[in-house]
Amino acid sequence: MKNKIQPTQEEIVLRDHDFIVSKTDLKGRIIYANKIFIEFSGYTQDELLKTQHNIIRHPAMPRAVFDLLWKTLQSGKEFNGYVKNMSKDGSSYWVFANVTPSYDHQKNLIGYYSVRRKPSEEALSIIEPMYKEMLAAEKNAGAKDAIGISTQWLINKLQGVDYGQFVLSI
Ligand SMILES: Cc1cc2nc3c(=O)[nH]c(=O)nc-3n(C[C@H](O)[C@H](O)[C@H](O)COP(=O)(O)O)c2cc1C
Repeated sequence: MKNKIQPTQEEIVLRDHDFIVSKTDLKGRIIYANKIFIEFSGYTQDELLKTQHNIIRHPAMPRAVFDLLWKTLQSGKEFNGYVKNMSKDGSSYWVFANVTPSYDHQKNLIGYYSVRRKPSEEALSIIEPMYKEMLAAEKNAGAKDAIGISTQWLINKLQGVDYGQFVLSI
């Protein structure tokens, strides 16, 4: 589904003990969303199920972050990272996400699972300007080179520390 929603300036904030949970199939289509996911996304369960997870993608998110997310999952590892999401009404909400591959009893990969909590203001004060620079670099580079250039920007910025380690340290 093409997301035609316009982002607004409205920001909604998770409560301290909230967890936003979802599960997807191997193609990133939502197969489960908890009540708090439904609340913050503004969609009904019916609208979410079988829909691509990018239904809540915020245009302020650099593509390189999602590229890293999928590459990390495809290498069988867990991804930790900060994500700005967009609700159905265009408002936004920041999360700190943990995303993991799910396996069946035969160790076949069957999908992905994500749990998100409220990020600290301190962490967001570091992440927001970084993502802004990455997004600007992506726009400058054009679609073909966007991810490569913004990934390289991130590598330079973190001076050898990997993103997954970095986000746990802020
Ligand atoms: C378990 C799981 C959870 C995800 N959670 C989010 C999320 O909260 N927000 C988001 O924008 N993308 C999330 N994604 C990534 C999306 O599948 C997608 O790659 C991303 O929104 C970028 O969309 P695009 O590739 O169409 O640009 C998640 C993916 C998986 C597998």
